[in-house]
Amino acid sequence: MLTNKKVAIIGVGKMGETLLNGMIKNNLVKKENIAGSTAQEEHAKEINKKYGIQTYINNKEMISGKDIIILAIKPQMMKKVLSSIKDIISEKQLIISIAAATSTQFIEECLEKNIPVVRAMPNTPALINEGMTVLCPGKYIDENHIQMAIDIFGAVGLVEVIHREELMDVVTALSGSGPAYTYIIIESLTEGGLRMGLPRELAQKLTAQTLLGAAKMVLKTGMHPALLKGDVTTPAGVTVDGLMELEDGGIRVALIKAVSRATEKSREISR
Ligand SMILES: NC(=O)c1ccc[n+]([C@@H]2O[C@H](COP(=O)([O-])OP(=O)(O)OC[C@H]3O[C@@H](n4cnc5c(N)ncnc54)[C@H](OP(=O)(O)O)[C@@H]3O)[C@@H](O)[C@H]2O)c1
Repeated sequence: MLTNKKVAIIGVGKMGETLLNGMIKNNLVKKENIAGSTAQEEHAKEINKKYGIQTYINNKEMISGKDIIILAIKPQMMKKVLSSIKDIISEKQLIISIAAATSTQFIEECLEKNIPVVRAMPNTPALINEGMTVLCPGKYIDENHIQMAIDIFGAVGLVEVIHREELMDVVTALSGSGPAYTYIIIESLTEGGLRMGLPRELAQKLTAQTLLGAAKMVLKTGMHPALLKGDVTTPAGVTVDGLMELEDGGIRVALIKAVSRATEKSREISR
């Protein structure tokens, strides 16, 4: 579906480059049909050299003739960038925004046209094709638009579509920020192994593969994690002692609070 589409990425930073890489590696869009922009000329040159795509520091010049425009700039840059392209953007172009805390309505209003906008919240494991992206359509979106967005983010991981945009703040706090919470868990379990005498490299590998395996068990079986936990916990065994310490440390409440607090922060920024 995307083979002959022309794509422009405004803001080839961490996430923009991840999407660029995913589209090229998966032959989703031809290299000659992708362009990217950055704020600094030096960075644009680097991207051009690394991927062989056309790069720009002038967004207006870049978006002309493109079918899909991906906004991968920081939320605070959004207003300025949108006002710089609003005169030339057309309703035939699809906007996909990955900016946190930036609503489709805000983008539609800044552009002052009935522009199709899809809001997306990906996460950093997209870099290794293990991302989780949630999409949410704006007011002027049809099924084709959604499908194109699914194709782009499907190249770098799993994709879900939701239609209640107010839930995007929770999505941001859960799967968007989630890798950061998970790294703390990996770091801490590794240190537990280290404290009890395992070499660091081994402890880290055991931890990461254990989290990966447990996560895959949940995704593949669709079972409630409490039931899967039951399979590891034998009467008077080792695991139950470990679980007791986790409960005593308030791990559940801490994680629930992390998502709640980050959701509130996302709502606050959105306002
Ligand atoms: N990082 C995450 O985990 C994550 C997850 C989900 C969504 N997001 C969202 O993704 C967006 C980008 O985040 P990021 O972490 O990728 O940030 P980043 O690495 O700082 O990338 C932002 C890029 O935007 C470029 N830029 C700034 N002003 C520009 C302009 N006027 N025209 C064109 N390009 C411009 C910058 O160029 P220079 O490099 O030349 O300065 C930079 O490459 C944010 O809105 C964020 O909310 C991030």
